[in-house]
Amino acid sequence: MHRVTLIPGDGIGPEVTQSARDIVAATGVDLSWEVAEAGMRAGNSGGHPLPPAVFESIARTKIVVKGPTQTPFGDAYPVQVGDRIYPSVAIALRKELKLFVNVRPARNYPGIKSRFDNVDIVIFRENSEDLYIGRERMVDADTAEAIKVITRQASERVTRFAFDYMQRTGRKKLTAVHKSNVLKMTDGLFLKSAQTVAKEYPAFEFDARVVDALCMELVIKPETFDCLVLPNLYGDIVSDLAAGLVGGLGVAPGANIGDECAMFEAVHGSAPDIAGQDLANPMAVILSVVMMLRYIGEAVAADRIDAALAQVLQEGKQVTRDLGGTAGTRGMTRAIVDHLKAHQV
Ligand code: NAI
Repeated sequence: MHRVTLIPGDGIGPEVTQSARDIVAATGVDLSWEVAEAGMRAGNSGGHPLPPAVFESIARTKIVVKGPTQTPFGDAYPVQVGDRIYPSVAIALRKELKLFVNVRPARNYPGIKSRFDNVDIVIFRENSEDLYIGRERMVDADTAEAIKVITRQASERVTRFAFDYMQRTGRKKLTAVHKSNVLKMTDGLFLKSAQTVAKEYPAFEFDARVVDALCMELVIKPETFDCLVLPNLYGDIVSDLAAGLVGGLGVAPGANIGDECAMFEAVHGSAPDIAGQDLANPMAVILSVVMMLRYIGEAVAADRIDAALAQVLQEGKQVTRDLGGTAGTRGMTRAIVDHLKAHQV
């Protein structure tokens, strides 16, 4: 039996993660959820926004499905783990669990309006360094600076991860993204590291793009790209751009993966404006759970959920308002569950 830690999170988190649970249950996969509370609700109810019980559960399961957690604004309660302080629960988990790569697929689904067809891109964003190491300071009242760190070890690790993922999933081409014409040392090292690793995988196509040129090409002919590997900052930006190519953040899943454990979460936030009203689109968290099922070796169940979701989207009726339908979160979930039950393997 698989054991998975589930963090329902804040806002629409409990609704969309319940949807994913119902759908996984309908596949018959032998999986038990350990529910662990974290986020603003956990913090507001007198506890810690990221209590030790979460880490204890993850130490047992190694796998997390996380709903969106609301970031406390200002200094209300910084997320502290040991002597380390983080701006949000999501960032604290990614850092503490050493999740070095963020995998963000962006592909067209039938029935989801977008400007392009045939987009099917997987983005591998380096998750541990670059400008996000938090070394930023005011030099004086009028000058601020931030330090960008790129290491050979992290750049090779994320590139190797990308190729291994491609090998498992039948992908063909990896494009390394950089700005080494200007940032000759940092991005130069990223590019060189990616090129070195590419030599170990001669069966795959490999090329490189300067990040600004890549952005332009992505919005002109996104269907020509397969997989992208990027340093942290470019990965953050380009992955949202790619989500926009296929219908927006509401349909964008994600995975954060490390050597020891993995965390799967939708890209969108806790949507407090629609929380508790049965309006949230559960698709992004469902697709994140599909990624989780593949990761734990349950590819058949993952394929079945993918197919059921595609069918419900194509029919276009039992989908949430943001997708042009009239169903609520529960109605859309029921339609997917019904489809799974009608097509038992
Ligand atoms: P948001 O993604 O929560 O909402 C932006 C807009 O998209 C809202 O109008 C919302 O109603 C809509 N929306 C989002 N997800 C939807 C869904 N599944 N179905 C239908 N509509 C959806 O972004 P926002 O408002 O910037 O952030 C709200 C809170 O979420 C903040 O506290 C933020 O820090 C947190 N957040 C947490 C993340 C995480 O835990 N990984 C990621 C992003 C934001």
